[in-house]
Amino acid sequence: MASDKTFYLTTPIYYVNDAPHIGHAYTTVAGDVLTRWHRQKGESVWFLTGTDEHGEKVMNTAAQNNVTPQAWCDRLVEEAWKPNWKHLNIANDDFIRTTEPRHEERVQRFLQGLKEKGFIYEGKYEGPYCIGCEEFKLPGDLDEGKCKIHGRPVEMLSENNWFFKLSAFVPQLIEHYKKNPQACEPTSARNEVMAFLEGGVSDLSISRSTFDWGIPVPWATDQVIYVWFDALLNYATAVGLGDDPASEGGKKFASTWPADVHLVGKDILRFHAVIWPAMLMAAELPVPRKVFAHGWLLVGGEKMSKSKLTGIAPRDITDHFGVDAFRYYFLRAIPFGSDGSFSWEDMNARYTSELANDFGNLASRLIAMIEKYCEGKIPAVATDPGLSSMLVDVVAKADAAMVALDFQGGISAIMDFCKRANGYVTEQEPWAIAKDPERTTELNNVLYNTAESIRALAVLLHPVMPATTQILWESLGAQATLGDIAKQKIADVATWGQLPPGSVVTKGAVLFPRLEEK
Ligand code: MSP
Repeated sequence: MASDKTFYLTTPIYYVNDAPHIGHAYTTVAGDVLTRWHRQKGESVWFLTGTDEHGEKVMNTAAQNNVTPQAWCDRLVEEAWKPNWKHLNIANDDFIRTTEPRHEERVQRFLQGLKEKGFIYEGKYEGPYCIGCEEFKLPGDLDEGKCKIHGRPVEMLSENNWFFKLSAFVPQLIEHYKKNPQACEPTSARNEVMAFLEGGVSDLSISRSTFDWGIPVPWATDQVIYVWFDALLNYATAVGLGDDPASEGGKKFASTWPADVHLVGKDILRFHAVIWPAMLMAAELPVPRKVFAHGWLLVGGEKMSKSKLTGIAPRDITDHFGVDAFRYYFLRAIPFGSDGSFSWEDMNARYTSELANDFGNLASRLIAMIEKYCEGKIPAVATDPGLSSMLVDVVAKADAAMVALDFQGGISAIMDFCKRANGYVTEQEPWAIAKDPERTTELNNVLYNTAESIRALAVLLHPVMPATTQILWESLGAQATLGDIAKQKIADVATWGQLPPGSVVTKGAVLFPRLEEK
């Protein structure tokens, strides 16, 4: 990677027909963890999320609520979406709304450019459309006339629309994925995309004529741009697509584009791995480096969704387990790329064993012992070869896994180190050593080695659990001596002996309190 290229990650932009549920939060938390990890690698990072506000689905929801679509979007964005991301401690750098002028203007300019290049033509669309998916459907996508995803009847459209010559890019797309398999992951997702491409792809209708909630087609203002064509462009409009290279937008575009990772759920893979790169190819712009499709959170074996009344709001979980346990749980429990069922029992079990017992207790025991045996000060530097060498391996393993979006692998490598540190304390029995005044050095060594292990754990787990690790960092006295936890570099974590002897520890809040019986 060129040193001036920013690591640019996006989430899908979410429909504002309803409030966020944990499926949406799953994607955004994953993006937040990965971008925090890259920031701690010392890279320049840009993390974008936002909302998808046009189209029939949002328009109909607004009508059902007796407000204009714009008023509806404003309310949902300000009262539901933005507060939700703040609650989950999401550190996005920008938030794009597709109703913003900065987006609308750049979308129109982009479409005009494709028309001038000869990739847009007028035609008639006749066929099924699912408003839930906002998608022109193929016969194979339906089950007895109903959308397989939403289980609802589709509309039959017959409209004079504008079309994008999507089919012209099929050979180039196939070639692209053959040459760059990492551009679509996991492998199952790439196989699906290749099969779809090899099965033949038709041109895409990119406008709608029967309603007006959208961006007008610049040369035919009685039509609005198809919501997906509009929405996909957010990734580029937010960073200055098409702006003069000397302008601020143009410079931003040059330093961020192409996106390094588009995180998506597997339901919207084709839009991102077929339509989106074809649009970019048509405009002669670089295509994304990676589209990663994760699996679904299932409830009762089905994709959790608000429309099927299985949606769980993040707060239903965070009220009980806290925000950091929420951020931790889904990435730890479900291999990223596979579906996973949510269960309160499993979350409860992991919270208790991994967070409260393994991690939280290790930290509270250490602080209590330093207070009791060392007057609350970090003792002299000592190095346990077993712990310090394991840490070198753990950091390498965790880093390789995290940058490959294997969150489960990354977090479990870190938690294995946590287990080892617990094992070390149990084996060394510092409370027994403390009974013998002749063994003070030995006692101090054990406590220093444990403190250093916890220092490393705090830094490595910071991207996953930013608030809890901050509390721990302060109680270790590290804020005052080593500076901000977010500034600690992954590459330096395994350098043993960083906690300065003499720094004062304090008992902080309990990191993972015992859960109230429900
Ligand atoms: N607006 C489009 C995306 C446009 S991106 C240019 C859209 N929005 S959505 O709100 O319906 O859902 C977006 C994403 O939410 C999904 O792709 C997925 O990332 C996430 N999820 C929604 N339900 C989910 C689950 N049940 N499980 C996991 N992720 C889910 O599609």
